[in-house]
Amino acid sequence: MTKVLVLNGPNLGRLGSRQPDVYGATTYAQLAEHLVETGRGLGLDVEVRQSDSEGEFIGWLHEAADLDADVVINAGAWTHYSHAIGDAAALVPRYVEVHISNVHAREEFRHTSVLSARAAGIIVGCGVGGYDLALAHLAATPR
Ligand code: DQA
Repeated sequence: MTKVLVLNGPNLGRLGSRQPDVYGATTYAQLAEHLVETGRGLGLDVEVRQSDSEGEFIGWLHEAADLDADVVINAGAWTHYSHAIGDAAALVPRYVEVHISNVHAREEFRHTSVLSARAAGIIVGCGVGGYDLALAHLAATPR
């Protein structure tokens, strides 16, 4: 099965209790379990991770590059300013950028992304279902 890493940045481990009006009621644990199932149905070996540490997250992007694995990235707030994350993402073979909320309908600082220019696709504002869409896209368009 094709390996895909789903990498989540800061505060996404709080899904379910963090601003449910913005991010929904699904908990991070529920989302992670669901995405492994979704992946299995698509023939993907999905591994879901979350970190509040930028260095750890960069290490995971390096790991994806070494594994030649596609990545689904929700880098949370790092999306908007971390060029270190953007540079590390540039090393992976292919990635889809996901945001649960519609970042373009929110504060100005959320309109900028260090990831979008190199993304194979960008999914925003579709709730946690955006991750399923990203996996479906990767499964439907093998490299
Ligand atoms: C987010 C949007 C970011 O602006 C925010 O900092 C997050 C989550 C989203 O999934 O909608 O942490 O990436």
